[in-house]
Amino acid sequence: MTFRARHLLGIEHLAPEEIRAVLDLAETYVELNQRTVKHSDALEGMTQINMFFENSTRTQASFELAGKRLGADVMNMSVAHSSVKKGETLIDTALTLNAMHPDLLVVRHPASGAVDLLAQKVNCAVLNAGDGRHEHPTQALLDALTIRRAKGRIQRLTVAICGDIAHSRVARSNLILLGKMENRIRLIGPPTLMPSGVQDLGCEVYEDMREGLKDCDVVMMLRLQKERMDGGFIPSEREYYHRYGLDAEKLAMAKDDAIVMHPGPMNRGVEIDGELADDINRSVIQDQVEMGVAVRMACMDLLARNLRAERGARAVGVMV
Ligand code: CP
Repeated sequence: MTFRARHLLGIEHLAPEEIRAVLDLAETYVELNQRTVKHSDALEGMTQINMFFENSTRTQASFELAGKRLGADVMNMSVAHSSVKKGETLIDTALTLNAMHPDLLVVRHPASGAVDLLAQKVNCAVLNAGDGRHEHPTQALLDALTIRRAKGRIQRLTVAICGDIAHSRVARSNLILLGKMENRIRLIGPPTLMPSGVQDLGCEVYEDMREGLKDCDVVMMLRLQKERMDGGFIPSEREYYHRYGLDAEKLAMAKDDAIVMHPGPMNRGVEIDGELADDINRSVIQDQVEMGVAVRMACMDLLARNLRAERGARAVGVMV
């Protein structure tokens, strides 16, 4: 199988065949996760540490479940009760944990680039669980798997990414992944929520939601990242919902079989109509959560294989 990466820091470092390798292996874990006994020994004997410096429900829970289902010893570091609160730096925290010989380190951090920096300091495989506005690679991979299962392919689709593009690492990772897989990408949102240089991203940009959604195959809504906003980016949530909130009337502009996605957590009645989010004929939001466990199992399995190969080669004195 083609997957050469030592860490999973961002989609930008993955080749299309590596993305396909993750999705193909994840399919086998989707099947495993639907069994009564959900156990594999792919990470038997390995130690996984989860370090979340930002809040999370889906990502942290699914990485923990993924590691346990693969047989790893999983430790969730409680940042709120750690020595980070006494002023210990990220690097010192990482070096301390590294001395305990983990094999996989899963990190979420509010600063863009923090996870890359940490990966340079430790001996194990590092997985980026979201760093600032930079990347959220496992989210883009689980979104790709969800799309591929719903649409039968992950190429030649028209995908609308809507809302707070400027502050969203989910948007950035999806943009890179969907672009690598040769899809047509539309970015829809108010100019205040578009990143600078958006015209150079190779996407079509729309301010009008109805115009942008016309004939789309996939409608990906985004959360308003209020924690990353330092000013008034929208006039009011009511006005935002009126213009950019997805409801049945706006969705009618997309293809009849267009799917609706949202990475969560959702603000119902702000980014998306609650009934539409729960409509199992259009919304794949719960499928995204299900695919999240399988994709994270696949990513950790592939990185563990590379880690074992690297250690094996080092043990016999082969340069890697
Ligand atoms: N999609 C996502 O990253 O959700 P959490 O913040 O709950 O992990």
